[in-house]
Amino acid sequence: MNEETAPKNFTENSVEFSTLQETLATHFKWFHSHPELGLHEWETTARIRDILMDAGVKILDTGLETGLVARIGGSGTVVALRCDIDALPIAEATNLEYASKNGCMHACGHDFHLTSMLGAASLLKQRESRLMGAVKLVFQPAEESVNGAVSVLASGALDDVAEIYGLHTTPDMPVSMIGVSSGAVYAAVGSFAIRIHGKSGHAAHPDECRDPIVALSQIIGAAQTIVSRRTSPFDPAVLSFTHVEAGNTWNIIPEEAFAEGTIRVGGKERLNAIMERLKRVCKGVEEICGARIDFHCELNAPAVNNDSELAEFVKRTAQELGFKTGPSRPTMGGEDFAFYQERIRGVFWNIGVASPEPAHNPRFIANPAALSTAAALLSAIAEKSLKRLSSVE
Ligand code: NI
Repeated sequence: MNEETAPKNFTENSVEFSTLQETLATHFKWFHSHPELGLHEWETTARIRDILMDAGVKILDTGLETGLVARIGGSGTVVALRCDIDALPIAEATNLEYASKNGCMHACGHDFHLTSMLGAASLLKQRESRLMGAVKLVFQPAEESVNGAVSVLASGALDDVAEIYGLHTTPDMPVSMIGVSSGAVYAAVGSFAIRIHGKSGHAAHPDECRDPIVALSQIIGAAQTIVSRRTSPFDPAVLSFTHVEAGNTWNIIPEEAFAEGTIRVGGKERLNAIMERLKRVCKGVEEICGARIDFHCELNAPAVNNDSELAEFVKRTAQELGFKTGPSRPTMGGEDFAFYQERIRGVFWNIGVASPEPAHNPRFIANPAALSTAAALLSAIAEKSLKRLSSVE
């Protein structure tokens, strides 16, 4: 760790922290060069398991095929720290000496998250006898693809957890800067699919057909007014069509057309309201065009909604450790951390990694200089929340 990136309180323990930083940087490079997609994180899980077992950390029997939950501490109150471990199907283009060569990439910083959690595990293990309860460390699979949070919750491993904390790298904040805000910081995410069953025929005789392309274009056009004309400008919302398919040549009106896309808003209720409007647009077009329209929509993740008291607690803890803090970057992206928050009070906070390019870009780079400081903050949050909860009881 260099002086520039080290929050001031860490420089006092610089020997301990520079050793931790070195170890974590080595782990980080290994994880970065071995990315695996959601639910295929076999090697990643095995490596995490080995490192934790070497440190004497207990791993719980959860039945999860990839990912794992570890536990440090004694009886009493339990809090959880969560990171994600999956990568993206992106071919890396960073030219780092530890770049991935397998066609997948940790382009969202999950390698950073899991490595700093390993650091937190090592710090918490050293202080195990002083913890006023226990910390569960969740190494969650499949954040990007299929809501691994749901399977972690279904395992029952977090049933006794009172509070949960998670972190995410932010590319455009300075290294080690902490962003934390209360309220909705990630959007509620929904997806929809529309299939139009028309009637195909010769393009020269459209009157004998039920043109699904015209029907679909009317739906796409009318859908643009849902956000611009039926949603308050003070409540941000996004409705995007991302995939359209119909026909295969120039002189045949096709039988079917298909479209899908996504809706992002600050809460589940508003998401449902927008879905309902889109459904009504489809109904109206069905009426006008005489083609049958199937509409399917689903909630992919609720909004990440930070508890205000706990957000203040994370901010204070970060400041006590000497971190610079600011608000977290609001985003219309989704995060399945939201599923934990539906059951457990919690906060999702950001740490700056000063990447030259945004997340999900093949040139994204999480600066590893902040690994040990992220680990220290994670462990301090866990230890202090146990202390606070025990004094309340
Ligand atoms: Ni991510």
